[in-house]
Amino acid sequence: MPLQTSLIPLAPATYDAFFAYLGDQLKENGQGGTPLFQPMSRAQPTLAPERAAAFRQALDTPLGQPGWRRAWVAVGPEGIRGHVDLRARPEPHAQHRGMLGMGVHRDWRRIGLGRRLVGLAVQWAAAQDGLDWIDLEVLSVNAPARQLYLATGFVQTGEHADMFRIDGEQHGYTYMSRALRR
Ligand SMILES: CC(C)(COP(=O)(O)OP(=O)(O)OC[C@H]1O[C@@H](n2cnc3c(N)ncnc32)[C@H](O)[C@@H]1OP(=O)(O)O)[C@@H](O)C(=O)NCCC(=O)NCCS
Repeated sequence: MPLQTSLIPLAPATYDAFFAYLGDQLKENGQGGTPLFQPMSRAQPTLAPERAAAFRQALDTPLGQPGWRRAWVAVGPEGIRGHVDLRARPEPHAQHRGMLGMGVHRDWRRIGLGRRLVGLAVQWAAAQDGLDWIDLEVLSVNAPARQLYLATGFVQTGEHADMFRIDGEQHGYTYMSRALRR
């Protein structure tokens, strides 16, 4: 099954399907056995239209300029099975670092797709002269994602306990990084 999954750059023709896929994934945030994976309330299971618009614009922003983003999707005959994206850090003087985000559709988890998607993002980033690091932030409660990142070469660099108060719960935020050049 995983062999039938193609990993391709997110292109304008796929934007609508992609944002529908993201919106569908967000409905699972902290629900039905899936850990909270976005620092958002369960009562807000939608992707704000302005976030989608900013995402599109960022894909056209040249690498190295503030706000750049690149994204890839894993696709099968029935549609999008997963995604990974890299984006600029918000801080000035940190253009040599990218931030990673990702997800896999609930029907396609635990078959190695997440690992393939991280591998693709790392491979792409390592080929960019201007990038030396990939960073990410993950809710500490999200054990599947933390395990995946550890399994793909990320190292935990810190954790803020009680970073978020969401739906009456305290949530820690874990910080991880991976060097692209050794
Ligand atoms: C986290 C997520 C992306 C993992 O994707 P996936 O395709 O299922 O991951 P893979 O099958 O490639 O698993 C690779 C490794 O990750 C770890 N892992 C993945 N899911 C796990 C789980 N439920 N429990 C424990 N470890 C897990 C394991 O180490 C696994 O290796 P193994 O299968 O050899 O044991 C997926 O669960 C997901 O989309 N979750 C919701 C969204 C999300 O959390 N996004 C990340 C936000 S930071």
